[in-house]
Amino acid sequence: MSPRAIITGTGHFVPPDIVTNFDLEKIMNTTDEWIQQRSGIRERHYAGAGVGSSDLGVEAARRAIESAGIDKSEIDFIIAATISPDHYFPGIGVMIQAKLGLSTIGALDVRDQCSGFIYALSVADQYIRTGTYKKILLCAAEVQSHNLDYSDEGRDMAVLFGDGAAAMILQPNPADDGRGVLSTHLYADGRSYRDLWMEHPSSVRKPTIAPELIEQGGFFPRMDGKNVFKNASVRMPEAVLDALQYNGLSIDDVALLIPHQANDRISQMVAHKLQIPLDKVARNIDRLGNTTAASIPIALDEAVREHKVKSGDYIVLTSFGSGFTWASAVIRW
Ligand SMILES: CC(C)(COP(=O)(O)OP(=O)(O)OC[C@H]1O[C@@H](n2cnc3c(N)ncnc32)[C@H](O)[C@@H]1OP(=O)(O)O)[C@@H](O)C(=O)NCCC(=O)NCCS
Repeated sequence: MSPRAIITGTGHFVPPDIVTNFDLEKIMNTTDEWIQQRSGIRERHYAGAGVGSSDLGVEAARRAIESAGIDKSEIDFIIAATISPDHYFPGIGVMIQAKLGLSTIGALDVRDQCSGFIYALSVADQYIRTGTYKKILLCAAEVQSHNLDYSDEGRDMAVLFGDGAAAMILQPNPADDGRGVLSTHLYADGRSYRDLWMEHPSSVRKPTIAPELIEQGGFFPRMDGKNVFKNASVRMPEAVLDALQYNGLSIDDVALLIPHQANDRISQMVAHKLQIPLDKVARNIDRLGNTTAASIPIALDEAVREHKVKSGDYIVLTSFGSGFTWASAVIRW
């Protein structure tokens, strides 16, 4: 039987600068009351100028490596998930490899937005199950704050996002004890790609970069917030129910549900639809905002470090984001 992938170490890193809703009130047309009522967010962390996603990712990776108790030279593959790479190309996987001083191991970048972490986890899981790699570094890192539109047009998005990174080490489970990644379910509906996107820079356009695009705010992320909200609160519970059914589990078996931290109202709606008590639902968006691909692994690392999960627990992850993409995963800890 092929081995299951177990997570042997986790870590996360958020930049030290905290930006509260009151700080945002000073630079844009918004209020703490509006942000808290609509999203549950009080504050988020912003990276300083000169700090990119790969820098946050490297810090998180160091913590994951330490928590796994391995030497970095043992890592044989890197998977990185981000929608805010340091550069248009190459991706941050190779940068993390170089900054950690690793050998010429492969480095794969996954671009599936807020679902990027679960998509990346599914790839790592396949490599471990097939025996291709034995110690995979999986890293999700985002710096969104350097490219948000604080004008009225972009304020719906600007208040939601924060910066952060998380990482983990995945290895084959040497024991036949049922622990590990039990399943991943991935979904997408590309018809809605314009409902949450950053249109430029676009290879469709010639030239790709033009001054009028900057003036029009074409390089900022945009969304149809209501449609995103509606779809997220339907698709995440659906994905969780698929995962539970696949594994022959009921919602009562779940020790911890970690939904992507898009909006606390969405998380509450997901919990309500699944009939899972809120004390079993990871919720850190009040402190961190939406950190895109990093939000689920940050919440997982916090739960691990706070001893909220114990060996044998069933942990369910679910995400929804741009694409639209959505996903779920079940891990037996
Ligand atoms: C963004 C979101 C919080 C907005 O909440 P909403 O209840 O849909 O609010 P609306 O869009 O109806 O906006 C209501 C009003 O607030 C205004 N508004 C938008 N952003 C604002 C802000 N940051 N501060 C103050 N007012 C704001 C709007 O302009 C609108 O004003 P109007 O009524 O005068 O036109 C909500 O749609 C949401 O969370 N969607 C999902 C977003 C998401 O999760 N994205 C990432 C997914 S991975």
